Amino acid sequence: MKKQNKTLRVELGERSYPIYIGPGLLADAEIYRRHIHNRQVMIVTNETVAPLYLAQVQGALQSFVVETVVLPDGESYKTLAIWDRIFDKLLSSRFGRQSTIIALGGGVIGDMAGFAAACYQRGVNFVQIPTTLLAQVDSSVGGKTGVNHPAGKNMIGAFYQPKCVIADTDTLNTLDDRQLSAGISEIIKYGLIDDPSFFRWLEANMDALLERDPTALTFAIERSCQDKARVVAADELEAGSRALLNLGHTFVHAIEAGLGYGEWLHGEAVAAGMCMAADLSRRIGWLSAEEQERIVTLIKRARLPHEPPRSITAEQFLDLMAVDKKVMDGRVRLILMKAVGESVITDEFDSVKLLETLNEYRSDDL
Ligand code: NAD
Ligand code: GLY
Repeated sequence: MKKQNKTLRVELGERSYPIYIGPGLLADAEIYRRHIHNRQVMIVTNETVAPLYLAQVQGALQSFVVETVVLPDGESYKTLAIWDRIFDKLLSSRFGRQSTIIALGGGVIGDMAGFAAACYQRGVNFVQIPTTLLAQVDSSVGGKTGVNHPAGKNMIGAFYQPKCVIADTDTLNTLDDRQLSAGISEIIKYGLIDDPSFFRWLEANMDALLERDPTALTFAIERSCQDKARVVAADELEAGSRALLNLGHTFVHAIEAGLGYGEWLHGEAVAAGMCMAADLSRRIGWLSAEEQERIVTLIKRARLPHEPPRSITAEQFLDLMAVDKKVMDGRVRLILMKAVGESVITDEFDSVKLLETLNEYRSDDL
């Protein structure tokens, strides 16, 4: 392997696995041989990523029997109906229980392919090749897989860990700036959850990230994966502390469902959701106005939205937030911030203050 490549580990006992990070990894046949022990390999990708990277992956898999499913591109296709096409292809190709499914794409493909791997013949070998920044720092790590339901985001799914994650940083060269910023949003999230020194590093290095400086990008991916791997290792199935990774997400899922999936990018909704969580954290006296300002400033510098779309009313928000997976005994639970880099899961917030936050972003002329 080339010198500049890094390998981290997600420590989950017998389900532990490596995350390979660096340039040129897609074509590294040795990595595939290490994690694929039988011949049948199904690559799940989409119509945007296939013309860019499928040939490289196929080239590295010449010693295997490789089939491909190319799905339509977009969050609006993350549905049970489209997901079913993976099984049509697996079955028509007569793939057995020893097959491997490879996800080649962003978070949508990773979540759908992973869920297919969890279900096909009750579970087959799975490899993640994330090709967006968001997928490299978040969705490919930790084993959450699934699809959306019209009533709620990611409502149908499974925890299913991959055998490895191959994050080839060269793939980020073809991402557009909007997608890059969406990934940076999840990177900022790790700083806010429990890594204040990473948040400070981001304040100092945001321009380098936006300019795609390879050293800065690689550091940010590594640090994010380390932060995520630590949280996942402590609470794989989200019995408690893993929910911290959902900072802002109760608002996010409401934004995505309220607008229609795909209207805003997930990372964009995360940025607005984190600002809403910061606003509420300040209103309940946890975060200072200066800390809230630091968060909003960094999010604006990352060219991300710092408030939700004004077309969603407070009442709609409350309705949509009630279907969140963190709701317990009918109580909405939120991740709020005691400080930059210190987030907590809580249902102990004044609902009047929540309403104030939701109304903060209402346009008077609606
Ligand atoms: P995405 O998968 O839709 O990818 C974004 C766009 O970039 C798509 O059009 C895709 O085709 C394109 N693309 C992918 N790689 C590319 C490349 N290298 N060059 C050019 N274009 C490329 O979106 P995403 O932001 O990667 O992921 C969002 C999804 O991830 C959401 O469905 C979200 O729910 C999910 N998610 C899951 C987890 C988890 O833990 N499983 C965590 C966060 C987000
Ligand atoms: N993205 C949230 C989690 O993996 O738990």
